[in-house]
Amino acid sequence: LGADALAQDLVGRRVVISAGGTREPLDPVRYLGNRSSGRQGWALARVAAARGAEVVLVAANVEAPSPFGVRVVPVGTAEELRAAMLEEAVGADVVVMSAAVADFRPEAVAATKLKKGSGSEPAAVPLVRNPDVLAELVTKRAPGQLVVGFAAETGDDDGDVLTHARAKLARKGCDLLVVNDVSDGQVFGRPENAVVVLSADGGATDLLEGSKDAVAAGIWGAVAARLGPRPG
Ligand code: CTP
Ligand code: CA
Repeated sequence: LGADALAQDLVGRRVVISAGGTREPLDPVRYLGNRSSGRQGWALARVAAARGAEVVLVAANVEAPSPFGVRVVPVGTAEELRAAMLEEAVGADVVVMSAAVADFRPEAVAATKLKKGSGSEPAAVPLVRNPDVLAELVTKRAPGQLVVGFAAETGDDDGDVLTHARAKLARKGCDLLVVNDVSDGQVFGRPENAVVVLSADGGATDLLEGSKDAVAAGIWGAVAARLGPRPG
């Protein structure tokens, strides 16, 4: 961790971070998942703890040991993540949704393993929408609580990355949106990252680039600058 870890600007703050990617079961042995490693959320938790925060990490299928001083709540599905986040967010100063939440889940989960032959071969898998956890956290937040979303965007004919990100920030109603440009090449699973943090008041950071710890430090800098005075 760099010198930023020594900034004790999160002392007395309670932060709740989701990380990883949800898995939506299809049968007892199979799921629909995504490639999120959870490394950026994990780094956010570690850096926040180093800077003095009380940290809860709601970890969806993250293959990493708990960061030092962080309470980890393991979850599997989007519904489990939703329940854990709503519970842990009560009384938190900052809530960060860095997890990749599956937008859809199989409509039905088979009670027994799907087998080849036997007349039960699925022709297609009907999907239903998962709840939007970030939107719900925004609706239910207490005054003064900061809610931070994440978005991986690409530029296309309808606009560049930041245009799409601004629209998403407005749509989601959160205070800050951490934006990853995934236009050229993969970001998933890489140790390095590059993001811009947009804020609902129109502000934006410079490009925060480097290791996931360095990026996490930059994100906490942007968050800490917007925290109100400590109670008490
Ligand atoms: N998110 C969430 N619940 C969902 C989907 C997304 O809380 N069901 C959160 C993510 O954790 C992230 C933010 O919303 O912080 C943006 O996720 P993203 O997938 O970019 O947004 P969507 O609204 O799902 O838009 P898209 O259709 O582009 O996937
Ligand atoms: Ca999505």
